Amino acid sequence: MAIVGGGPSGLFLALLLSEAGIAVTILEKSSRAHVLSRIRAGVLEWGTVELLRRAGLGERMDREGTVHSGVGLGFSNGLFRVDFAANGSRHVMVYGQGEVTKDLYEAADRRGITIIDEAHDVAIHDPCGSPCVTFSKDGERHQMACDAVAGCDGFHGVSRQTIPTEKRTEFEKVYPFGWLGVLSPTPPVSEELIYANHPRGFALASMRNAHLSRYYVQVSACEKVADWPDDAFWDELRRRLPSEAAQSLVTGPSIEKSIAPLRSFVCEPMRYGQLFLVGDAAHIVPPTGAKGLNLAFSDVHYLSQALEEALCNGRQNGLERYSQRALARVWKAIRFSWWLTQLMHRFPDQTAFDQRLQESELSTIGNSLAAQAAFAEGYTGYPL
Ligand code: APR
Ligand code: PHB
Repeated sequence: MAIVGGGPSGLFLALLLSEAGIAVTILEKSSRAHVLSRIRAGVLEWGTVELLRRAGLGERMDREGTVHSGVGLGFSNGLFRVDFAANGSRHVMVYGQGEVTKDLYEAADRRGITIIDEAHDVAIHDPCGSPCVTFSKDGERHQMACDAVAGCDGFHGVSRQTIPTEKRTEFEKVYPFGWLGVLSPTPPVSEELIYANHPRGFALASMRNAHLSRYYVQVSACEKVADWPDDAFWDELRRRLPSEAAQSLVTGPSIEKSIAPLRSFVCEPMRYGQLFLVGDAAHIVPPTGAKGLNLAFSDVHYLSQALEEALCNGRQNGLERYSQRALARVWKAIRFSWWLTQLMHRFPDQTAFDQRLQESELSTIGNSLAAQAAFAEGYTGYPL
């Protein structure tokens, strides 16, 4: 099995396949340090928590992560809490994606999984016949025949591009704004996350632990990090958070500051011959619903089961159903993430009427247990 990409998808898939006795090799174009340096969302759906625990990969997550049973939604009428348990849903685990990736790398090292870092010019050949991958390492070209290839190389990788354009359909929605994110060594403004709709734009108060906060404000698509010195960021965040949160905001120096664009994207199908797309290689969600890593792991769950059936027991039906099975859950998460994005953000062409509609929908959720149950199901994760 050749796995292109050593991010969360590739690492988790390699670990599950290796446990099933399938020989895997990961080809990662960057250094491990670079992969581990990426700052990403920090909310794990409960299904993801259970997958990691079942794979024996959840020990530090359970020790250092924080279980959350609700989330705050703020808007002009104040702030209300959606209680996941009261609405028939499970919890989420707040645990940085960088920590998950670090745990996966350490497990891969312990289990002797072959990870070739700084593998350049990876190419996937003859996926519908006799698959093989070629790559360069330390100036030498290598070729590796394999039974199948997992494209875990993210949105900008090579695997999706290996599928002929006439064989794939791409669906995309680009949002006319981005998220300016700040990581600060300060206590979080609240024990749970707060998503805030404000006429000036969206804001999110999140955290990594009791001493490390992660905040975001919506910015226009053309803004640059240099446009936002720390003081300007804190002032804007304070204006957009619900007043009781804004009053208790502890500011401090930003130790990371970046702007992420927002898009929804899906490639269909997620299979071409013996090439299988996984995670961001196949789909992208706006970070509003914190679905990126969670969707990647449900793809890994489905594909690892199917590959074990095929490579260990000779049964192909799991692989034949992989794309359809994965896409069914992908589109549910794509829809939830789109819905929450259009509910919480201010769009450039938005009118006062549109703002009232957003506030009315938020008020409806705040006063309806049925609406809260639907929100909680989408946020904590649809069934695998
Ligand atoms: N050859 C080899 N490796 C590649 C190539 C290539 N041509 N192109 C990209 N890669 C590597 C990247 O360096 C990265 O480490 O593939 C990896 C892809 O990792 P991610 O982009 O993290 O995607 P994925 O593993 O699917 O994880 C999805 O993590 O990045 C977040 O927002 C994402 O939450 C989502 C989750
Ligand atoms: C984060 O903590 O980085 C985070 C949390 C929730 C989101 C997005 C990002 O929806």
